[in-house]
Amino acid sequence: MVPPPRKPTLLRVLDGEALSPPPIWLMRQAGRYLPEYREVRARAGSFLDLCYNSELAAEVTLQPVRRFAMDAAILFSDILVIPDALGQKVDFVEGRGPVLEPVALDRLDALRPAEAAARLSPVLETVRLVRRRLDPDKALIGFCGAPWTVATYMIAGGTTPDQAPARLAALRQPEAFARLIDLLVEASADYLAAQLQAGADVVQIFDSWAGILDADELERWSLAPTARIVERLRAKRPGARVIVFARGVGGRIRDYAERLKPSAVGIDWTIAPAAAREIVPDAVALQGNLDPLRLVAGGAALDRGVDAILAAMRGRPHIFNLGHGIGPETPVAHVERLVARVRAGARR
Ligand code: CP3
Repeated sequence: MVPPPRKPTLLRVLDGEALSPPPIWLMRQAGRYLPEYREVRARAGSFLDLCYNSELAAEVTLQPVRRFAMDAAILFSDILVIPDALGQKVDFVEGRGPVLEPVALDRLDALRPAEAAARLSPVLETVRLVRRRLDPDKALIGFCGAPWTVATYMIAGGTTPDQAPARLAALRQPEAFARLIDLLVEASADYLAAQLQAGADVVQIFDSWAGILDADELERWSLAPTARIVERLRAKRPGARVIVFARGVGGRIRDYAERLKPSAVGIDWTIAPAAAREIVPDAVALQGNLDPLRLVAGGAALDRGVDAILAAMRGRPHIFNLGHGIGPETPVAHVERLVARVRAGARR
């Protein structure tokens, strides 16, 4: 008889187990640091063409799992497919990152939420293709951006040093800004539910720009809307597993853990793992938090960083990851060394 597939280690940890070694995957693990990604990317045309080409997107999703035996695949797409699907003009310019035609808060009726699902259907097809091709003992992670982070790009039209245009818009026109956030809450929750329906095992919400908000604004534009996404998602899909990554919020990761009751919270590298362990209830797994530059540096800087995280998290539900996305300048050999050390670390 064929033995039943084993439950992916990532899901065991999200469901409350502490494992040694911990499961490992890396934020932005499919990307330009991989030669095989650059090869497919060159064939795809534009970056968005790659996101909407299910066959090629499935291929690049699987590349890091094949090369490093990561414990999870993360859907290849981008958080900015939501504004694109809503009808905003989105482009990715080589060497400059995303460029959007900024939305005006008094012209939100130009956005077309009813048409988003059709535009996003190839992404859901990518999820189905990957789930079929991925080992059953590996987890598949879907994702979206948190409304705040996505709104910062929609308003600024791209990346600025501290996304001041969106912060100003939120302070000057809070009612109109709230309408944009509400629209994103609904579109994002529906999109995450569709990813789970298509075969994702868990979804991660990226709030990469949460850390630039003051305490009041963080509550209003990050915590509350992200909580509403989780609520709406779980109303549609009871028991849905969710990872929340709010970058730069320091000790307030505890608020995300207690209020949203996600399966895990991501922690960036500026938080001491032992401190995170202290303030986040044990029922919520921790994910992180190696400085991505330790991975670029390699050698002793990498080894020491890995060992410190493993030691601080021992006995607690933990998913090994970086504290933010992997950079394009990262040597592949350093990623191999990281994975080997995490897996051997359990025996040291
Ligand atoms: O993790 C994965 O491997 C899955 C794919 C993924 C991408 N973007 C692919 C991508 C994920 C999960 C994202 C999330 C994302 N996108 C975030 C949240 C996480 C974070 O890094 O803070 C944000 C803020 C974005 C928006 C975005 N997309 C920016 C600012 C950029 C330009 C910067 C850069 O790295 O080039 C992108 C482009 C992008 N998204 C690339 C990839 C692989 C590189 C573009 C290319 O290959 O031409």
